[in-house]
Amino acid sequence: MKKQNSIIHNKLSIIGILFVSLFAGCKEDVSDNANTWATYKADENSSSYSPLGQINVSNVTQLQNAWTFQANDVPEGDQAVSSQSNPIIIDGVMYANSAKQTVYAINAQTGEQIWAFKALGDGEPSAASRGVTYWEKGSDKRILYSAGNYLMAIDAQTGKLIPSFGENGKVSLNVGVRDDPEKISVTLTTPGRIFNDLIIIGSRLPDFYGSPPGYIRAYHCQTGQLVWTFHTIPHPGEPGYETWPPNAYKYAGGVNCWAGMSIDAERGMVFLALGSPSFDFYGADRVGANLYGNSVLALDAATGHYKWHFQTVHHDIWDYDLPCPPNLVTIQQDGKEIDVVVQATKHGFIFVLDREMGEPIFPVEERKVPASNLPGEIAYETQPFPLKPKAFVRQSMTEDDLNNYSPDDHEALLKKFRSVRFDGLFTPPDLQGTLSIPATRGGANWGGLAFDPMTNFIYIRGNNLPEIQTIVDANKHFTAQNNTLFEQGRVVYQKHCAACHGDERQGIPPTFPAVVDLKDRVVEKEALQKIRQGSGQMPGYIGVLTEQEEREIIAFLYDKKDAKIEVPQIAKSEEEPVRYMNITPYRTWSDPSGNPALKPPWATLNALNLSTGEYEWQIPLGNDETLQEKGAPNTGLLGRSGPMVTAGGLVFISGAADKKLWAFDKKTGDLVWETTLPAPNNANVCTYAVGGKQYLALSVGGTKENPSGSIMAFALPML
Ligand code: HEC
Repeated sequence: MKKQNSIIHNKLSIIGILFVSLFAGCKEDVSDNANTWATYKADENSSSYSPLGQINVSNVTQLQNAWTFQANDVPEGDQAVSSQSNPIIIDGVMYANSAKQTVYAINAQTGEQIWAFKALGDGEPSAASRGVTYWEKGSDKRILYSAGNYLMAIDAQTGKLIPSFGENGKVSLNVGVRDDPEKISVTLTTPGRIFNDLIIIGSRLPDFYGSPPGYIRAYHCQTGQLVWTFHTIPHPGEPGYETWPPNAYKYAGGVNCWAGMSIDAERGMVFLALGSPSFDFYGADRVGANLYGNSVLALDAATGHYKWHFQTVHHDIWDYDLPCPPNLVTIQQDGKEIDVVVQATKHGFIFVLDREMGEPIFPVEERKVPASNLPGEIAYETQPFPLKPKAFVRQSMTEDDLNNYSPDDHEALLKKFRSVRFDGLFTPPDLQGTLSIPATRGGANWGGLAFDPMTNFIYIRGNNLPEIQTIVDANKHFTAQNNTLFEQGRVVYQKHCAACHGDERQGIPPTFPAVVDLKDRVVEKEALQKIRQGSGQMPGYIGVLTEQEEREIIAFLYDKKDAKIEVPQIAKSEEEPVRYMNITPYRTWSDPSGNPALKPPWATLNALNLSTGEYEWQIPLGNDETLQEKGAPNTGLLGRSGPMVTAGGLVFISGAADKKLWAFDKKTGDLVWETTLPAPNNANVCTYAVGGKQYLALSVGGTKENPSGSIMAFALPML
């Protein structure tokens, strides 16, 4: 204990010196250039830390709404949307995108609009987008932004496309990814990062059979020229090739970096968090460890050359994508300073790796895990388990952990629990049904971590979300009643769409919209474009569905029941591979009344001391009053946004459906301030100083009356 104190003390004095030299000893430095949150998650390290301290533990209760910027790109009466954008601030100007992907430049002090750039054409589907990237060289100042299948360069001063970048200001992300650019849809949900004059980007891809590979690419910020490409599914002769079947590089997909990356400019390295290979729940066509799936990958940022990797899940069959950027931090251990990479996972672990070589700082053990019963599937024999830190979410449950909201509901849960396969973490998907905990939306999410250099603590939100994975043989399970377009379309729908939009097209509110009334709202052409390209949190289906299947799905969605046209039955070839599918992913396991199967807490906020690998505090985050038992602690509520930590002693994090924004004392986890926002929100907070004043800002979702949503800024009242 004594040792730990002195380590923290050392660290504090180093920080103290830094402050004195950087900020001339001013304790409450709010000069405009003190960490202006110039990039996604605060800095190139993804720290989500701000050295600003004007807003602090003793005055945070006085925070007031300083201004609200109203986006206005969703017509009245349309479905409300929710933006995941984390604004950035450069020289007093805030740059952020709306949910509909309009980019706005806003006076960060007043909230007045400077310019707006509509990145999508009318009716073109928008995707989840977490922000923009800024680059400058001399007087050339640019916003690099991705919408649709393009990367664009926008003049930061005028809000106009820069024609000399790519083709008239745009570069197609579909080009240069192995597959026919006309038959794929590559989008970008997390903004790219800058290294010198390069912008390095990942991608968002569908999770299905037939998905393209998630190559990492670097483009020149001035010209838009592609400078390097890294094959995340290695080609012959490249390291890692041997972890796949010989031809897999020609057909396997996924292994994309959708969640973001960090840059160590001094070392000239980029660190990427990679997702799982596709198809996510069945890997008979990709036997092997499948590098660089689910890996933290370190590359030379200038050339894209391989440096090292650390695979957190071998041969993933659970959709355990790495869900947030690796954090680059410096920790104190045994009196030494060590530069490390911290990666949190969906399955609840935090891996702490040496930055030079990728070796674990705390011991990691390869443990034997259960084998698969699915024909053709060879689950990997072992998986890595860190001995420290402990998992920040539940990785197991028993019958005692099942909720009991009513005897019938409890009975139904018990029956299900006893009928499915569950052999702990890494239980493979099974025809019997599998319990997965944490599941596809558990553990960490895109909001990621915040690191406090003053204390060596990281802060992370954890979601406790079990799912039941229902595995079927797609070729046998889905058969049409007859050969009309409509009935065939129903089959395509059940296969690809029902998991999110519900068996009866009723949707699963609030995340997944109903498509039963589509014909009253959306013209066919627009719907097809959304289906091809994806929209918001929906993946794109171009290349996944054949043109025939597209016609069928449209006939089904638009209730063309009397379409007399018969669809020619294409004889199934003998060699048609068995394609197992999971028909219930992304759904929290619930009882028949719709209440969570697992007892609370369903979400927590955790403070982990990286020097010791021990948690300092863990609290439930959020509350569902309707399900909270009398006198019981808060239930916690599912959320995806991440925390921000400040020199003012505070951790800020937004809620979700509950519309909350909270400030916690970073040392104790005590709630010190909260406010209720006008709408549900789903975005990380940022903070910056302009004109001697510290502001806090975040994207807030839309409402029925105001579907576009807004950006809200908070500050202390004038003294
Ligand atoms: C992983 C979940 C998921 C799957 C699978 C999925 N969708 Fe979606 N879909 C969504 C979400 C989320 C939205 C809302 C998107 C937005 O906010 O723009 C959406 C929106 C749509 C819309 C637009 C609805 C509107 O009101 O404008 C259509 C049409 C649609 N989906 C059709 C399909 C079809 C057809 C399939 C299957 C081929 C499918 N979806 C599969 C999640 C999904």
